[in-house]
Amino acid sequence: MTKDTRKQPRSKNKADQPKRLFGLYGAGGFAREVMPFVAESLSKGAQAFSQIVLVETNPQKTEINGYPLLSEKAFFEIECSERYFNVAIADSKTRERIAAECLAKGALPLSLRSPHAILYDCNEIGEGAILCAQTIITSNAKIGKFFHANLYSYVAHDCVIGDYVTFAPNVHCNGNVHIHDHAYIGTGAILKQGTPSKPLIIGEGAIVGMGAVVTKDVKPFTTVTGNPAKPHG
Ligand SMILES: CC(C)(COP(=O)(O)OP(=O)(O)OC[C@H]1O[C@@H](n2cnc3c(N)ncnc32)[C@H](O)[C@@H]1OP(=O)(O)O)[C@@H](O)C(=O)NCCC(=O)NCCS
Repeated sequence: MTKDTRKQPRSKNKADQPKRLFGLYGAGGFAREVMPFVAESLSKGAQAFSQIVLVETNPQKTEINGYPLLSEKAFFEIECSERYFNVAIADSKTRERIAAECLAKGALPLSLRSPHAILYDCNEIGEGAILCAQTIITSNAKIGKFFHANLYSYVAHDCVIGDYVTFAPNVHCNGNVHIHDHAYIGTGAILKQGTPSKPLIIGEGAIVGMGAVVTKDVKPFTTVTGNPAKPHG
């Protein structure tokens, strides 16, 4: 029988044990996909969290898939010794705003990594990353804050990725690609490898459509689609 990962860890009543609270912002599809591995991994071991919740601005329910769903206000009213958060919302500007608000209120970012995500050597990954199942970051990649790597995506050697970048499922990001802040890479996109002296560049806020095969640099705030990828529309 499959283990029920939705069970909350038992609360720790001993006065000398810190009460560690974790809130995952978002109540949409991505948050529901991320929460099972969060609940599984954060409820184990000596550093186990006392409480794990979902957080939304105006929740219409009290729970989702068996996990408590709280308003932001309620999340910050819970008494705890350590309050951690992450943001499972694909829209990068919303992610940035929520992260800034949480940090300003003293919550700490916690990176989330599926037990089925793989990291090889010498990668630098900023705070607040979410690495879903079957994602691979190979070697010597440099990744900014609050990166999302959805299912089956990879980042190959020597890539440089900015802050609040989003990979939908199955993104193939080959070596020496530079992706600037807030870019969104759609499902199944393939980014051609660059070279150390001429990396392939995806500009700030660019959108790469699902299935695109990107062979040339993409300008900032531009959407590209197709094979080879061209400006969309
Ligand atoms: C590229 C994209 C951003 C365009 O969005 P949009 O501007 O709202 O586009 P629309 O859905 O209005 O479609 C406009 C036209 O482009 C076509 N089109 C849309 N996305 C396309 C894509 N990725 N590749 C090729 N053509 C595409 C549509 O078929 C439509 O064609 P038509 O005018 O002949 O009917 C979007 O379709 C996309 O690929 N988003 C990524 C989705 C994704 O990966 N989601 C992951 C969720 S986890």
